[in-house]
Amino acid sequence: MKELALYIHIPFCKSKCYYCDFNSFSNKNDFISDYIEYLIREVKLYSNKVKDYYLKTIFIGGGTPSFIKGEYIYILLEEIYKVFNVNNLEEISIELNPKTVDEEKLKIYKEIGINRISVGVQSLKDNTLKKIGRIHKAKDFFETYELLRKIGFSNINVDLISGLPGQTKGDILSTLEIMNDLEVDHISFYSLIIEEGTKFYNWYNSGDLILPDEEEERYMYHEGIKYLKSKGYNHYEISNLAKEGYECVHNLFYWTLKPYIGIGTGSHSNIEGLRYWNFADFNKYFNSIARNELPIEGNEVIDKTMEMAEYTILGLRLIGGIYMKDFFRRFNISIKEVYGSILNKHFKNGLLHIEGDNIRLTEKGLDLSNLVFVDLIP
Ligand SMILES: C[S@@+](CC[C@H](N)C(=O)[O-])C[C@H]1O[C@@H](n2cnc3c(N)ncnc32)[C@H](O)[C@@H]1O
Ligand code: SF4
Repeated sequence: MKELALYIHIPFCKSKCYYCDFNSFSNKNDFISDYIEYLIREVKLYSNKVKDYYLKTIFIGGGTPSFIKGEYIYILLEEIYKVFNVNNLEEISIELNPKTVDEEKLKIYKEIGINRISVGVQSLKDNTLKKIGRIHKAKDFFETYELLRKIGFSNINVDLISGLPGQTKGDILSTLEIMNDLEVDHISFYSLIIEEGTKFYNWYNSGDLILPDEEEERYMYHEGIKYLKSKGYNHYEISNLAKEGYECVHNLFYWTLKPYIGIGTGSHSNIEGLRYWNFADFNKYFNSIARNELPIEGNEVIDKTMEMAEYTILGLRLIGGIYMKDFFRRFNISIKEVYGSILNKHFKNGLLHIEGDNIRLTEKGLDLSNLVFVDLIP
């Protein structure tokens, strides 16, 4: 038996945030009940394909999974428990948005076994939240957080973003101080990315969106990380920190190239050397499942060269980096033989730290990681 992670995509949101290009919609609510029915049918289509695997983690992401009825999440997980081997299931996460939950919904999540909650907060400044198109205020987060703890969730992540319009280092530090006082278990601390197709993209290009400059944003990021580390958070991935033992098992599957299946529109899977992705279009997704076929739009065979590059890039995103002996064990060739000159170049220019068996990004390397990654891509 081999371990497996399962991702479930819920592509619905109450409204679209100005910075977000995720595969999610605020105008397709009429599809929700059909979508759940087809998700369940997609799960069933996996019945004979996952016999050699046991599920270690489930991640219900989006979009905003908490936007839809709690009962939908309940029946979906019930079906998953029937189809997959869940005897060793460790972590079941769900993403939620503060303005979309109440006590009843959270109790349903708890009852069906969800044990990790990821809350999209982004900022605790109401004027910033308004500028980025969030539907909630800081107080909504506090209420939700209190409710989550009251119901007994003991593993809570918050998503925060640095580099937002008008944001200062003081804003970031006060937000992080509050998160530390609340004893949040895990913090995803992203840097704002201006994505094509978003309102922010258009405003930025027409000069209507003023952002902190890159140097300022990097300063906020480093000061934020420094503060959280001083409070005992383990900085374990470029954008992620956790209290000891609260590292996200699901995301570690992605970062260490372990097998995963994604169900729902646009989801990606990576299993047995094959990467494939589902139709993002609702009708194509539904039609394929109606024919009793997995709704796969395309696939790509991951050859050894590509796998080595991905393993190295994802591994370097982890603050602990990678170990040469693990690379050898997986690929039967030394990492120095494959990437010797690249590693040497970035060791010399101070982006990589190589010590004994371990290779990792330096602090400067964390900011300029793309310069290393671009050299590793075949
Ligand atoms: C699927 S959402 C989380 C759940 C829920 N939809 C919400 O936003 O509250 C995933 C997270 O990705 C991050 N994110 C999305 N677009 C981003 C961008 N352009 N730049 C940086 N972070 C982004 C946000 O922190 C967001 O909370
Ligand atoms: S950040 Fe979350 S709530 Fe906002 S549009 Fe993206 S997925 Fe939806």
